[in-house]
Amino acid sequence: MNLMLLPPGQRVLPPTGRVLKRGERLLEPDVYVIDVDGRPAVVKDYGRYRWTPLSPLARLLVRREARVLRLLRGWRHAPALLGTIGGLALGIEFIPGVAPGEATIEAGAAVFQQLRGAVAALHDAGITHNDLHPANVLISGGTPVLIDFASAVRTPRWLRWLPPVRELRRSDLANVLKMRQRITGQPPSRQEAAAMAPPGWVEAIRTGWKRVYRRFKGRSG
Ligand SMILES: Nc1ncnc2c1ncn2[C@@H]1O[C@H](COP(=O)(O)OP(=O)(O)O)[C@@H](O)[C@H]1O
Ligand SMILES: [Mg+2]
Repeated sequence: MNLMLLPPGQRVLPPTGRVLKRGERLLEPDVYVIDVDGRPAVVKDYGRYRWTPLSPLARLLVRREARVLRLLRGWRHAPALLGTIGGLALGIEFIPGVAPGEATIEAGAAVFQQLRGAVAALHDAGITHNDLHPANVLISGGTPVLIDFASAVRTPRWLRWLPPVRELRRSDLANVLKMRQRITGQPPSRQEAAAMAPPGWVEAIRTGWKRVYRRFKGRSG
């Protein structure tokens, strides 16, 4: 595909490219739409890290996201990977969709049911998304599509029972329920709330961390 023919590492933003997001925070890519053979494609471009000490990390993010998208090829709840460009950018199928908040409330309930199913299927494939929020989900023709697999983790089958991995799955599903509540107003049922409550050890780490942080701030402030 044409994206592969671009000179390695070149910033491919064409004058007509519609910018979807400017990378402003650390290790955030520029995200824009380009035209490939008359069809729109999304480019996630970490080119601004070229020749910087963070370049290996940016390349790692590109490789990791590409690997997950490759594994999910053909799945209707993820965009197709078109290719990587010079190690610092990804070309991804453009999903013509709206953010979950923009879908109507009626569509919302059904869409969230599908979204839960999609996240469960992702987990069955051994992948956790780890960054589920409204900006990383698009609703396209009534189907939720997950985007932004930069934080996703793939776990080998024999490690999936480990508590930290279970915690990642729980946290993904809790984020779906949080989104559903925020957008449709539907609170989690008692059963869902019980299943989504963080286990004791997560709470203990959270409380411990807050205590250390407060002490540190108290000393330095
Ligand atoms: N495949 C896509 N199709 C349509 N829009 C997309 C696609 N990928 C990303 N976007 C848009 O660009 C934004 C940023 O992309 P994202 O992959 O989430 O980057 P980041 O890792 O910086 O959050 C998304 O919130 C979404 O609005
Ligand atoms: Mg994102």
